[in-house]
Amino acid sequence: MPKNNINQIYSGDCNYVLNDSKLIDAKSVDLIITSPPYADKRKNSYGGIHPDKYIEWFLPIAKNLHRVLKDDGSFILNIKEHPKNGERATYVIELILELRKQGWFWIEEYCWYKKNSFPGKWPNRFRDSWERCFHLTKSKKFKMYQDEVKVPIGEWAQKRFKSMSEKDFIRNISKNNDHMGRNVSNWLNKKKVFPHNVLVFEEEHRLYQSNLIEMATAQSYQNHSAIFPVELPTWFIRLFSKRNDLILDPFIGTGTTAVAALLHGRNFIGIEKQKEYIKEAKKNIKELADFTL
Ligand SMILES: C[S@@+](CC[C@H](N)C(=O)[O-])C[C@H]1O[C@@H](n2cnc3c(N)ncnc32)[C@H](O)[C@@H]1O
Repeated sequence: MPKNNINQIYSGDCNYVLNDSKLIDAKSVDLIITSPPYADKRKNSYGGIHPDKYIEWFLPIAKNLHRVLKDDGSFILNIKEHPKNGERATYVIELILELRKQGWFWIEEYCWYKKNSFPGKWPNRFRDSWERCFHLTKSKKFKMYQDEVKVPIGEWAQKRFKSMSEKDFIRNISKNNDHMGRNVSNWLNKKKVFPHNVLVFEEEHRLYQSNLIEMATAQSYQNHSAIFPVELPTWFIRLFSKRNDLILDPFIGTGTTAVAALLHGRNFIGIEKQKEYIKEAKKNIKELADFTL
C-alpha cells in the first residue's frame, strides 16, 4: 500500500528528500518531469553547478529517481547546454551516456521550440530557440498514450484530398525500397494525426504572481528566472500518464508541473530547495483550486 504524501511540496535538496525511502516509496511514481538548474546558470538565484561537476552532482539524484519510478514509468529531463568560450558545453551529452550506464534507456529526444526565446546577436551563432527534453525510461516497455496528443490534420489535407489521383490509392514501393511511398488515401476522412517530436505550442503560458495562467515572454518572468510554460509538462503528462497517476518534479520551482498535473486529474509530489519558490508554487496551486472549485 503506497504511503506517499501526495499533492505536496517537500522543502529541501531533492537528493536528500529522494534518498529518504520513508518520504517517497520505491516504484511509486508514474512520471517524472523536471527542469534542473543548468550548469553555471543563475548563480545569484539558486546557485550554479560548474559543468565539470554537473555529472557528479546529477548522478546520485538520477539514481534516486530510478528508485522511485515505476518500472513502466517515464522520466522527462528538460535541459540545454550553454555556449562557453565560443563552443557548446558537452556536459549534457556526457550526462546522457552516464545515465545509460546507470540503467536508464534513452528512448527519445523531443525538441521544445521556444517562440519567445531570448533575443540577441552573436558572432558565431544565431538566437537559441530550442531546448532538449530527453525521454528516459527503466525499460523499453513503458506506458504511452499516443492518441492523447494527436493534432488536427491541417488545411493541407483538404487541398491534397481534392486532387487525388489513382496512384494515391495504392502503396508505392519506391525504387530503393525505403517504404516512403505511402497510400495517401489512408488519410482520407482523418481529422487528427500523430504529432512529430518537435513541440511547438501556439501560446506559452507561464505561472506567476496573482495570475493563474499568464502569457509571458522571457523578459516578463517576475518571481523566477527559469519557469517553463504549463503547456510543456501538460503535453508529457497526457502522453505518459493517466488520471490519478503520480507525477514527480524534483526541481519544481514555481509549481508549473503541479498545476499541469492537477489540471489533468493527476497527483503530484514536488521538491524545491528555495523557500520563496515554494511559497510561489503553493500560491499557484491554491489559485488553481480557487479557480476550479
Ligand atoms: C529551472 S528551475 C525549475 C523551474 C520550474 N520548472 C518552474 O516552472 O517554475 C530549477 C529549480 O530547482 C531548484 N533547485 C536547485 N537545486 C535544487 C536541489 N538540489 N534540490 C531541489 N531544488 C533545487 C531551484 O531553486 C529552481 O527553482
